Amino acid sequence: MTPRPTLRPARPYFSSGPCAKRPGWNASVLADALTGRSHRAGPAKARIQEVSDRSRAILGMPEDWKLGLVPASDTGAVELALWSLLGARGVDLLAWESFGSDWVSDVVKQLALEDHRALTADYGELPDLGAVDFSRDVVFTWNGTTSGVRVPNADWIASDREGLTICDATSAAFAMDLDFEKLDVVTWSWQKVLGGEAAHGMLALSPRAVERLESYTPPWPLPKIFRLTKGGKLSSGIFEGSTINTPSMLCVEDAVDGLRWAESVGGLPGLIRRSEANLAAVGRWVEASPWTAFLAKDPATRSCTSICLRIDDEWAEGRDDAMVAATVKAATQQLDREGIAFDIGSYRDAPTGLRLWGGATVDTSDLEALLPWLDWAWAEAKRGAA
Ligand SMILES: Cc1ncc(COP(=O)(O)O)c(C=O)c1O
Repeated sequence: MTPRPTLRPARPYFSSGPCAKRPGWNASVLADALTGRSHRAGPAKARIQEVSDRSRAILGMPEDWKLGLVPASDTGAVELALWSLLGARGVDLLAWESFGSDWVSDVVKQLALEDHRALTADYGELPDLGAVDFSRDVVFTWNGTTSGVRVPNADWIASDREGLTICDATSAAFAMDLDFEKLDVVTWSWQKVLGGEAAHGMLALSPRAVERLESYTPPWPLPKIFRLTKGGKLSSGIFEGSTINTPSMLCVEDAVDGLRWAESVGGLPGLIRRSEANLAAVGRWVEASPWTAFLAKDPATRSCTSICLRIDDEWAEGRDDAMVAATVKAATQQLDREGIAFDIGSYRDAPTGLRLWGGATVDTSDLEALLPWLDWAWAEAKRGAA
C-alpha cells in the first residue's frame, strides 16, 4: 500500500495556463487599476507602456526592438505576425506538438503559402534543427507546451540569416533565456510564466521584422486587429501604449504586479532559477519513479515550465491505452477533488500522462509536496481499475 501523504501543497495550482498567480497574490493588487478610464488617457497609456518597459528590462530585449500589447493573447500575436509578415519568401515551419502544428496548419491551409516546408517530429522529440534553411522565414515554438520539449538554445539559428525567425515563446518567456540576436519576432501571453490574466498578447519585433513590415504588403486582406502599418510605415503608437483596440485595465494592472514580483525575485536569472528548480525537483522524483518517465527523450530538451510525463509502468504493459488513460484520469480527478492538484492531466492531443506546470510562479516546495500524492493517487487509481 502506498501511504496517504499528510503534507499538502500550499497552492494546488499546477495548470499550464492560465498558470498559478505569483506567490502572495491577492485581488487587492488591483486596487489602483485605472478602471472606468479611457485606455487612451495619458495615465492609462503610461500604465500600458509600463508593462512593455518592465518586460523589456527583465527580458534583456535590445533597445532597437519594438514591443507592444496586442489583442487575443499569444494566439493573436502569433497570427498577427504570420498574416503580416509571411509570403515574402519561402517558409520553414517547425512543429513537434499541438501548438506548432496549429501554426503549420494556419500557414498551409489558411494562408495557403505554396513555398512551405513542414519539419515535424512526434511528441517527445524535436525535428532535425540542422535541416532548417535560414534563407527562408522560419516559424517555431521555443517551448512546446503540450509535449514539454523545448529547443535547448538558439545555436542552431544562423546569425547571418536572410529570412525572419518567428518564435512563439509563450511558455518560455520569463523562464528561459531567449537569444534575441537570433530572433526577429517573439510572442507571449500574460497568462503563462508570470501568472497574469488571459486574452492579452505581447508582440516583439526586431528591426529586420519592422523593415519587412514597411517594405512588404501581403496579398491577402488584413483585418483591423492585425494591421501594424499605415501608409507603408509602422504604426509606432501600438508600441508606445496606444493599443489597436481596448485592453482591460484590470489585466494591465495585474501584469504590472506580476512584473514587479519578477523583479523582486531577481529578474530573469531569478525566474529561471525558480523554474529550473521545479524541473530538478520533478526530475529527482521521476528518476526513482517506477511508473513515470519524461515525455522529452533528450534531457537537454526537457521543459522547465510545462513538465510532461508519460506512463512507464509495468502494470500498463499489455493494457490498452484507453484503460491507462482512464486510470490516469481517475488519479488526477481524485487529486482535484482532494484539493491537492488542479489541471495536471496531459493535453488532450498529447500522449497519456501528466503535465505539471513548473513556471516561475510555482513554489518548488509545492511541487515537492505534490509528488508523493501522485504516487498515492496512481496506486489508488490502479487498485480501482484492476
Ligand atoms: C506554445 C503555445 N502557443 C500558443 C498558445 C495559445 O496561447 P493563448 O491561449 O494565450 O493564445 C499556448 C497556450 O498554452 C501555447 O502554449
